Amino acid sequence: MSGPALRQANAHYAIHESAYGEAEELLTLLQRVIQLGEWEQGMQVADVLAEHFEARTLAHAHEEENGLYQEIVAEHPELSVVIATLTHDHDLMRQLVDEVRALLQSTGTDTEDVLEQAVNRFVTLMWINQNHSRAEEKMVGSL
Ligand SMILES: [Fe+2]
Ligand SMILES: [Fe+2]
Repeated sequence: MSGPALRQANAHYAIHESAYGEAEELLTLLQRVIQLGEWEQGMQVADVLAEHFEARTLAHAHEEENGLYQEIVAEHPELSVVIATLTHDHDLMRQLVDEVRALLQSTGTDTEDVLEQAVNRFVTLMWINQNHSRAEEKMVGSL
C-alpha cells in the first residue's frame, strides 16, 4: 500500500490487523503441530511463518521507513524521538526473524529444540509487533 494510505489511521490499522491475524493463525498451527510431535511439519510451518513476517510485517516496515516516517519527521520534527523508537521496534523485529532463519538453517541441533527456540522468537515478535502497531496508530491518528 502506498504512502498516502498509510497516513489514514483506519487503512493503516487494517493493514496491521490483517497481517497480525494471519501470523496468529500460523503460530497457533505451529504450536499444535509441535504438540503432536510432528517435527518435520513444524519446520515447514516455521518457515512459512518466517516468510509471512518477511513478506508482510518487515516489508511494511521497510515501506514506512522509506516514505511515511521520513515525511513525518520533515513535517513534525518534534516527533523524531517517536519515529526513532518505532524504527527501533522494526530493527528488533528484523533481528528476531533473522534469528529464526539462523535457527531453521542450523545443523546438528535437535529439531525439537530448534522449534522451541523458534516459537519463543515468534511469540516475542508478535508481542513487539502488537505494541508497535498500537503506538504507530496512535501517532498516525494524531497527525
Ligand atoms: Fe511500523
Ligand atoms: Fe504500520
